[in-house]
Order: sequence, then structure tokens, then C-alpha cells
Amino acid sequence: MSTPLLIRAMRRERTERTPVWLMRQAGRFLPEYRKIRERHSILEIIDRPDVAAEVTMQPVDRFGLDAAIIFADILPPLRGMGLELSFAEGEGPVISNPLRTTRDIDMLAAPPAAEILGTTLEAIRLVARELEPRGIPVIGFAGAPFTLASYAIEGGTSRSFSRTKAFMYTEPAAWKRLMTKLVTVQGDFLLAQAEAGASALQLFDSWVGTALGLADYIRFVQPYNRRLFEMLGRAGVPIVNFSTGTTAYIEEVARTGGDVISVDWRLPLGELWKRIGYDRAIQGNLDPAALLAPWPELKYQIEAVLAQTAGREGHIFNLGHGVFPETPVENVQRLVELVHERTSGGEDHE
Ligand code: CP3
Repeated sequence: MSTPLLIRAMRRERTERTPVWLMRQAGRFLPEYRKIRERHSILEIIDRPDVAAEVTMQPVDRFGLDAAIIFADILPPLRGMGLELSFAEGEGPVISNPLRTTRDIDMLAAPPAAEILGTTLEAIRLVARELEPRGIPVIGFAGAPFTLASYAIEGGTSRSFSRTKAFMYTEPAAWKRLMTKLVTVQGDFLLAQAEAGASALQLFDSWVGTALGLADYIRFVQPYNRRLFEMLGRAGVPIVNFSTGTTAYIEEVARTGGDVISVDWRLPLGELWKRIGYDRAIQGNLDPAALLAPWPELKYQIEAVLAQTAGREGHIFNLGHGVFPETPVENVQRLVELVHERTSGGEDHE
């Protein structure tokens, strides 16, 4: 079986065109997803491998995307560690017993993924079996330790991350134990996803850049993410290092690890790639809000991203963050078609 386009681009090989997939490509902007959500809660979908597999393939079948990302969420591993997770309608995730004391942290379990996340591993097996003959890879993912710790401590989504940071500064030894436990659980989970058939892995550090400056990133986050990337070397698949709001210190984020650096839209992609270094692939970086614009504006912004690569190998077209639920379906279709059309014609040296 030949290597999928996405994986060759992630390895910075010359490809016949630029691969494209979108963060949160399976979700509420799709009518077929909303139909399934009428009958199942989000946790029910994640806990049912057959339904998770179906939802994973919906956007791939509809748009002709170059990758599937397994339908799951970054938060279920926290359930397995002993936290109570629910998704309140319209409010996002809620953890009803958040971490507040050093004792709470020492009570957290660190079970193997096969024990607590078996449904997601099974969903990956199902999707990989279905998509491999079509040459489409499945991306596995997990939340990075800081982003997960912030949900575990705040008890939900936060604007200021004040509890998380107060805890980090006040109890540095307990912070270290918490981050180390998260590295163990997430590392095992990501390796198990590769074993189940994921052809690439993405680590989501969604909130680190909103919460932390450079100095705190280096002291309180980087050592753990670095250890995680080192563990993932054994997976033998490309690793994507995703964050947002980290433009100010993107060099340091890139230095932490990952074969592909996923960047947001705050600076032009060419400038970010130069700072990251051309020895890494780059993923991004259309503003998800551009998908709400009329076609001429959206087209302009897509072409502006493509122009930034200057024809270099190793660009994976994506958004800088997830698709908004109010995104018109036809805009995603036109985006995929335009990226394919504009980047076709390169030589394929397979
Ligand atoms: O297609 C895909 O991208 C795969 C599915 C996916 C989901 N969550 C499903 C989901 C992925 C990759 C995630 C990751 C995730 N989850 C992240 C990291 C990526 C990012 O956006 O930064 C984070 C921070 C979460 C936590 C989370 N899950 C929040 C804050 C919310 C509520 C906000 C919202 O968008 O509604 C969720 C719920 C969630 N996870 C939904 C989906 C499709 C929407 C819930 C629903 O269907 O009712």
C-alpha cells in the first residue's frame, strides 16, 4: 500500500498536491452530524465505536478531504483518571469534581489507555480498515498536559486560567506530579492510537498560548511536552504539535518537538515557517472566520495562505483552529476544491 499524500507531506516529501483537512471537520456544521446528535449525546458517540467511526467518515465522504480525524474529544482521558465529565448543552465541558488540592492530584489514577479509552482505539481500527484501501489516513489525537490540566483545575472552559496559574505558582511540586501523570496517560494513549492504525498523531495544546508567556511556557510546560514528544518517537508516525496564541514564542514551541508545527492565523504562514525552520512541516493557517465570508473574500484568503508557502514541500492546508458550527457547508466544499485545484501539477516522486 503506498504512503498517503498527507503523510508524505508531513515528511516534507514532494507531493502531487497540497493535502487539506480541517480541525473539527466532523461536527455541528454538518447536518448529518446534527442528525446523529438528535439521538446520541457527544459522550455516547465517543463511547460507541460504530457511531464514532460513522461520524469520523462523514466529512471525508462529503468533501473529499485528505485525512480523517478520529471522532473523540480531548477530555475523556480525565474520566479514566477519576474526574466526572459531562457536556452541558450550550455550555461546553463540565468537570464536577475539579482538582483543588495537592491531595486531589495524588488521588488521580494513571491507567493504561486500553483500559479507559478502548472505544476510541476500536473506532480507529474500524476507520483505518475502511479508509486504508482508499488511501486516506486516520489522524489520532490527544490533549497536551497543560490544556488538560486547565480543564481539570478550572472545572470547565476558562478565560483567565486564574485557578490553573495560581495552582502552578503555589504548588510547583504538585504541578510537576500532575503534569507527569498526564504525560504518562497521554503518551500511552497516543502510542496505542498509532498501534490501532492512526497514521499521524496530533497533540492539542489549545490554551497554552492564551494562558502563558514565554518564561512560564519554558518552566511549567515545555519539559513535559518535550518528554511526550520523545516518547512518541517510538510510534513511527508523524507527530503534529498544535497550539494557538503562541506566535510570540513559536520558535520555542517548535523546539519542544513535533514533525509538523500547526500554526494559527495571527501572522502570515511564510513568516512563521521562517521562524520555525524549514526542517519542519507546517500546518495551517486560515482563520476559521474566513469560512463565514462571502466567496470572493474566502477565496482571497485561501490563496493568500497558499502564496505564503512559496512552493515549498511540507505544507498541510488547515485552519488555525476549529471550524465554527455556523460555517456554511458549501464554503468547506469550495475550500477543498480550490486547494486541490490550485496546488495540483507538482511532480510525485513516490
Ligand atoms: O472532527 C474533529 O475535529 C474531531 C473531533 C474533536 C472534538 N473535540 C469533538 C467535539 C476534536 C479534535 C476535539 C478536540 C477538543 N475538544 C479540543 C482541542 C481542539 C480545540 O478546539 O482547541 C478541545 C479544547 C476540546 C474541548 C471541548 N469539547 C470543548 C471546549 C467543547 C465545547 C465547545 C464546543 O465546541 O461545543 C467540546 C465539545 C465537542 N467536542 C464538540 C465536538 C464535535 C461539540 C459538542 C456537540 O456535538 O454537542
